[in-house]
Amino acid sequence: MDLDNLAAVAQAMVADNKGLLAADESTGTITKRFDTINVESTEDSRRDYRELLFRAAGIGEYISGVILYDETIRQSAADGTRFVDLMAKQGIIPGIKVDAGAKPLAGSDNETVTEGLDGLRDRVKEYVDLGAKFAKWRAVIKIGDEMPTGYAIHANAHALARYAKICQEGGLVPIVEPEVLMDGDHDIHNCQMITEETLNCVFGELYAQEVALEGMILKPNMVISGLDAKNRADFNKVADETVAALMRCVPAAVPGIMFLSGGQSEIDATMHLNVMNTNYKNLPWKLSYSYGRALQASALKAWLGDSGKVKLAQGALMLRASLNSAACAAEYKGESTQ
Ligand code: 13P
Repeated sequence: MDLDNLAAVAQAMVADNKGLLAADESTGTITKRFDTINVESTEDSRRDYRELLFRAAGIGEYISGVILYDETIRQSAADGTRFVDLMAKQGIIPGIKVDAGAKPLAGSDNETVTEGLDGLRDRVKEYVDLGAKFAKWRAVIKIGDEMPTGYAIHANAHALARYAKICQEGGLVPIVEPEVLMDGDHDIHNCQMITEETLNCVFGELYAQEVALEGMILKPNMVISGLDAKNRADFNKVADETVAALMRCVPAAVPGIMFLSGGQSEIDATMHLNVMNTNYKNLPWKLSYSYGRALQASALKAWLGDSGKVKLAQGALMLRASLNSAACAAEYKGESTQ
């Protein structure tokens, strides 16, 4: 394992005021997103949409890396330029989702375990040859009636560590993503307890399986009220509870924490990141973003599958990327004053 190289890539991913664009929606997920704008999901429409994102002029000023899906890392733009080469021109590091999705967990009615370990070593090799420098694996933890079980947390943490170790051996920086879902009416305290239990279990497994913390990135949920909670916690409370949970559970050797947005609105995701970076200085790790929906929602709405609206959509993406980068520096001043 070349730890110096892994650590250098991890540091580049969390370079000052930069974050990741999660554009690794599986075919099923991007089809759901396209359904909301009445665009048919075909190989070409998916290509056109991703091309729009990666060609946004100057996006590399804000985005250090893009997480791709298997189809996308093999795709080329309409003019034949490989997507990974387009990214290189903007100074963007390509990454790849390597998990095969959350699947029903044996012995459980509602919980899942993320699959994709079979054959992973060979796929990592192939993705390295295709130009990837980092990888992502998302584990899903649900809060609800008698959930999560310790069994589900442990099964997912074990798989995350196995994935991370295989990636590091093969030369990819693993993004370790244990997502405690926002779905439900639970309060923020409940989310904090479950998030801490999950992170403690994940870091226990990473330690047991000798994953090098300097050569990985953590992608957690924020500690936040459930979407249907009666009294949702405000921005300061989310910042306080999130930072407290991370301080208790994440070793200082981890270079960066790049949050998922998880169903937050674009503005909430930016606000929360900004408040954390404003109220907490000198944390042991960088706090940045690796957003999917919170970077793409308005771009997708602006595009509508219309080639005449590409510039508009790119403008919407650039706006979100610039505002989230400002939030990394604690310099987000709201939507209208930028
Ligand atoms: P969201 O920011 O839309 O939650 O997506 C991030 C991601 O990569 C989920 O795995």
